[in-house]
Amino acid sequence: MTQQYVQHLLDFIDKSPSPWHTVDSIEKAIQTFGFTQLDESSKWQLQAGGRYYVVRDDSSIILFVIGNRVPAESGFRIVGAHTDSPGFRIRPNGATVSDGMARLGVEIYGGPILATFTDRDLSLAGRISFFDSGKKLSHRLVRFDKPILRLPNLAIHMNRGVNEDGLKLHKQNELPLLFAQLASEQLPKPYFLELLAQVAGIDAAQLLSWDLAVYDTQKGAFWGANQEFYADSQIDNLASCHAALQALLDKTVLESAQRTLVCAFFDHEEIGSESHIGAGGSFLTDVLQRIDMATATEREDHARALAQSFLISADMAHAYQPNFPAAYDADHRVYVNQGPVIKSNANRRYSSESVSIARFIQWCEEVGVPHQRYSHRSDLPCGSTIGPIASAKLGIRGVDVGCPMWAMHSVRESAGVLDHEYMIRVLKRFFSD
Ligand code: CO
Repeated sequence: MTQQYVQHLLDFIDKSPSPWHTVDSIEKAIQTFGFTQLDESSKWQLQAGGRYYVVRDDSSIILFVIGNRVPAESGFRIVGAHTDSPGFRIRPNGATVSDGMARLGVEIYGGPILATFTDRDLSLAGRISFFDSGKKLSHRLVRFDKPILRLPNLAIHMNRGVNEDGLKLHKQNELPLLFAQLASEQLPKPYFLELLAQVAGIDAAQLLSWDLAVYDTQKGAFWGANQEFYADSQIDNLASCHAALQALLDKTVLESAQRTLVCAFFDHEEIGSESHIGAGGSFLTDVLQRIDMATATEREDHARALAQSFLISADMAHAYQPNFPAAYDADHRVYVNQGPVIKSNANRRYSSESVSIARFIQWCEEVGVPHQRYSHRSDLPCGSTIGPIASAKLGIRGVDVGCPMWAMHSVRESAGVLDHEYMIRVLKRFFSD
């Protein structure tokens, strides 16, 4: 049963090779649940009990269910997560050739573990903009299904120190991805544009611009003697998006929502959230304000709604890896398959504080979900999430939680099977509170 939740997650990740695809997968997943898409440039007519979603720039999405009690009387219950993962993005004039070998230049997006991208069956996914046949500007998702890219390692015979010094890759010179062997008369850029146009189903001449992410074509898998673990790319943070979505789409949650429930999934977390679609932008504030405008009777209702709201920032946590005990604070080891992790940081890299932590513990206990506490080593810089950003912007209380996982920001991350179901269960409880 718990394996089914993870299998469903692995299928979701497979359909979501880029943040633009993730939002598309979410839109497809909610199709039969009666959600109406709202356009930010149109007038909104919201009904009590109504289910809605808003997409901003194709890679951030906010879903909400209007509760039976207006927000001014009951507040918002918000789960936030991010749609992006660290990796590579293709440069605009990236295609080059030398010695007949065509390569694609990349920029590093966020903080991936670069070495994990070597020797993988990589490919490309993202979106393109083009002129359609009537010269109208159009946009479309694109995905190469086959592996078309690779970053082959240097043989150990040419890099004798690799096992002692670690694999170091020069970010400018050593990351371009190999993608084709060209004849002398073939030029790399038109060759690449032709490929891209072909997979998009248009002529290369129509193509104007693109956002392309590199992804690993290997599908997710269960592993471990009892298949108690799973591995895939983008577990950080598609596992949290998936858990929040599953909780929201629960029949009882949807049908008996008292408070207004919100899932806010943002792009650009891995690069600091400062964009018009990121958690540091106006997206969530704008949406909550408009929900309040549609349901309020007094000017102070928006402030009243926020004062009663709660944010769960769901993002993955660092599970204990027994080969590296020194990397962890000895008193804050968290283990896979032992429940959601509550993350604390005195310098507010996480939004959690004692009151919000206590609330989360209460919700866990009410549904029999174990929980663990994490605090990062003081001599290592701590990561952050959308939690403190969104909580500060809205002026609402928040808690940072997430399932424990190994190898965060590797192209092949892994985690425990039980934790995913635990997280769905506690988020369901949060939404029914
Ligand atoms: Co993350």
